[in-house]
Amino acid sequence: MTLRYFTAGESHGPGLTAILEGMPSHVPLNLSQINQQLARRQQGYGRGDRMKIESDSVRITSGVRHGKTLGSPIALWIENKDHAAWADEMSPVAVRGFQSKRCIFYPRPGHADLNGGLKYDHTDLRNVLERASARETAVRVAVGALCLQFISTFNVSVTAHVIQIGGVGISKGRPDFSVINQKQQKSPVRCIDDAASKKMMAVIDKAKKAGDSVGGIFEVIFSGIPTGLGSHVQADRKLDAIMARTVMSIQAVKGVEIGMGFLAAELLGSKVHDGIYYDRKNKKFRRRTNNAGGFEGGMTTGENIVIRGVMKPISTLLKPLESVDVHTKKTCRASVERSDICAVPAAAVVAENILCIDVASAILEKFGGDSLKEVLKNYGAYCKYLSTCYPARHK
Ligand SMILES: Cc1cc2nc3c(=O)[nH]c(=O)nc-3n(C[C@H](O)[C@H](O)[C@H](O)COP(=O)(O)O)c2cc1C
Repeated sequence: MTLRYFTAGESHGPGLTAILEGMPSHVPLNLSQINQQLARRQQGYGRGDRMKIESDSVRITSGVRHGKTLGSPIALWIENKDHAAWADEMSPVAVRGFQSKRCIFYPRPGHADLNGGLKYDHTDLRNVLERASARETAVRVAVGALCLQFISTFNVSVTAHVIQIGGVGISKGRPDFSVINQKQQKSPVRCIDDAASKKMMAVIDKAKKAGDSVGGIFEVIFSGIPTGLGSHVQADRKLDAIMARTVMSIQAVKGVEIGMGFLAAELLGSKVHDGIYYDRKNKKFRRRTNNAGGFEGGMTTGENIVIRGVMKPISTLLKPLESVDVHTKKTCRASVERSDICAVPAAAVVAENILCIDVASAILEKFGGDSLKEVLKNYGAYCKYLSTCYPARHK
C-alpha cells in the first residue's frame, strides 16, 4: 500500500490517535471539513446516548503546516469527552485503592468479548471491549476525510446512503449520483426514499421498545474515478478486493457486494456484463450499464464504483441474551453497555470516508509523486494518453 495508517485508542480512554504516512506534500487541508465528516458519523436515527456526550473534533499534531501537508507522517487526535467519567477506570498507571465497578464478566454474544478475553488472557473483558468498540471508527473517519480532500483534487467525489434497515428496503432503481448525495443528507436514516425512510425509523422504534436491535445495508458510490486504478497482475493489488476488505473491516459488517453483487448469480451472462462503446465526444471508452460496479479485473473501468456493506443488528441488547459468567461458568444474562439500536446510517458514513483511503492510495500507486504538483502532472499526462489511445492500427 502506498498510504499506510494505524489507529490506537480505547473507547473510554483519553482519546483516539491515528498516524497516516505517504500523503504527498502541498495537499491543502481544511480541518472543518474533517470535523463535518466526524459530525456526520455521530448522527443517524437509532444511535445511543454516547453520541450525545461526544462532539468529535480532530486535532492535527504533525505533518501539516498552515493548512498544507508537509509530506511527513500526519498525526491525528480525537478526544473522548466521556473519558472524564472514566479517568480512574482507564488510568494507564495503577490507582491506589481503586476497585472497578465496570468489570465485564458476562460476555455479550456477537461481540469480541469472549474470544478476545481468552486470546489475550484478560479476566476483565472490558480490556477487550474498549478496543473492539466502533468508537475507533471516529479516527478512521478522520483519516478518510483527509484522504477525501486529496482525491477531490482529481475530481473524485463520494457519497453513501442506506438502502435497507431491518428488512425495509428502498424502491428499485437509483437516481444519479448528485441526487443521491443531496437526498441522503435530508433523511435521519440517510435514505433517499422518503416512504422507506419513515418505515425504517418505525422499525428502529419497534426494536428499541422491545429491547432489541436492527441492522441493514448501506451503499457507497464514487464518481470521477479514473480508468485503471488497481491491477489484475497480483492478488493484493486488486482494488475491488482491497475495498471489499475495508468494508468488511467495519465493526458489525458481515457481507460486501460490488455492483450487481449477489444478484448476478441468478442471471444469464448477457444480462450481467456491461457492453462497451466509445464516447467520441469525451474521447472515452465507456460501459452501457454498470452492473460491474466500476471494476473489471481488479481495475477501475472509469464508471462509478458501487460497493455495499451488510451490517448485522447491534450486538448489545437491552434485553440481553444468554451468556456465561466466565469465572463461575454459571448461566447468566449478557452484560449491557450503553448502546445504539441501529448504526447503519453511521456505518455508511464510516465506509464512505475510509474507502477514500483506498482510493487515495490507488491514485498514489498509479501516478506516484512526493508533492501534489508531481502527482497532478503524472495524472494529467495519463488523462492525455487515455484520450488519444489507441492510435490507428498499422496495416
Ligand atoms: C458506527 C458503529 C456503531 C456501533 N455501535 C454499537 C453499539 O452501540 N453497540 C454495540 O453493541 N455494537 C455496536 N457496533 C458494532 C460492534 O462494534 C461490533 O459488532 C463488535 O465490535 C463486534 O465486531 P463484529 O460484529 O465485526 O464481529 C457499532 C458498529 C459501528 C460501525
